[in-house]
Amino acid sequence: MAHPLEQLRDDALREVDSALDEKALDVVRVGYLGRNGSISAWGEQMKTLDNEERPVIGKLLNEVRNAVTAAIEERTGKFRSQKESEALAGLDVSLPGTPHEYGALHPLHQMHERGIQIFRRMGFALADGPDIEDEWHCFDALNTPPEHPARNEQDTFYLSDGRLLRTHTSTVQIRAMESVPPPLRVIASGAAYRRDEVDATHSAQFHQIEGLYVDENVSVADLKGELEFFLRELFGSETEVQFRPHYFPFTEPSLEVYVRSKALKRGEQWIEVAGCGMVHPAVFEAVNKARGDKVYDPEKWSGYAFGLGMDRLAMILFDIPDIRLFAQNDLRFLKQFA
Ligand code: DAH
Repeated sequence: MAHPLEQLRDDALREVDSALDEKALDVVRVGYLGRNGSISAWGEQMKTLDNEERPVIGKLLNEVRNAVTAAIEERTGKFRSQKESEALAGLDVSLPGTPHEYGALHPLHQMHERGIQIFRRMGFALADGPDIEDEWHCFDALNTPPEHPARNEQDTFYLSDGRLLRTHTSTVQIRAMESVPPPLRVIASGAAYRRDEVDATHSAQFHQIEGLYVDENVSVADLKGELEFFLRELFGSETEVQFRPHYFPFTEPSLEVYVRSKALKRGEQWIEVAGCGMVHPAVFEAVNKARGDKVYDPEKWSGYAFGLGMDRLAMILFDIPDIRLFAQNDLRFLKQFA
């Protein structure tokens, strides 16, 4: 005759087989295997059995428990895969998916990366400063007097609290020298802002790579050599570079840099790409005052600085005819640089 446990197992398996969904199955599970389930009750009963019977019935109890648990798991699996295939019915998994558009770096960003890469090889570290500046970092510390036209509200975007959108990245020269003593060799790449009339070559927001090198015995020859190297790395070894005298309040002497190269499209003409010069002693003095020391002693240290027009460089490098294209977010334009 079958043991009552075997009878319980057979009943349980039958009920598992006839359960119509997961919920019904759970009712069966609780009835047999739950804390007060009829199979579980046998665990308590074991204590009343004598020593001979206990291992035999214990083994049987385990087998019964395992068999019922396995049957419940199997049927649960069946219900779940059934649900899945119902959800997938009517879905053709062999249909091609929605294609993703690939993104690409903006040409100005590409220009920024190329420029930084070349200057890195020349030993320049990266420096940074805020786009919203105070007048002192943008003008006073750069030896630019109050009557200078750049300080006019017609030329510069002022905030109501007297701060302004930096008109050049030369502000970072001051911030770098404030934070570290000489010698120093840094570049900064970022946006600058002017109230310019917008046309094919002017934009209210444009971009610059600023450079500053301060050491003992830095000369105009160093400045020319390094900028020539940079421009030839960027535009090719045939590139001609010309330095023309100019005026900036924060450098003396000051120069403008022009390039020309037959290898470039529209490269027949000289194109202005940068301003540069030897750091004016008054700039060192302003930094000393802000630092409260005399480490930038103009008798001991000299330096050169430059500001490259990044939009201009990118326009030459990628043959882009109009600066406004950079900001119009037109995919037909941007896709050409992917
Ligand atoms: N800040 C100047 C401008 O935006 C460019 C410039 C000229 C930067 C001479 C320099 C420099 O560092 O030495 O027009």
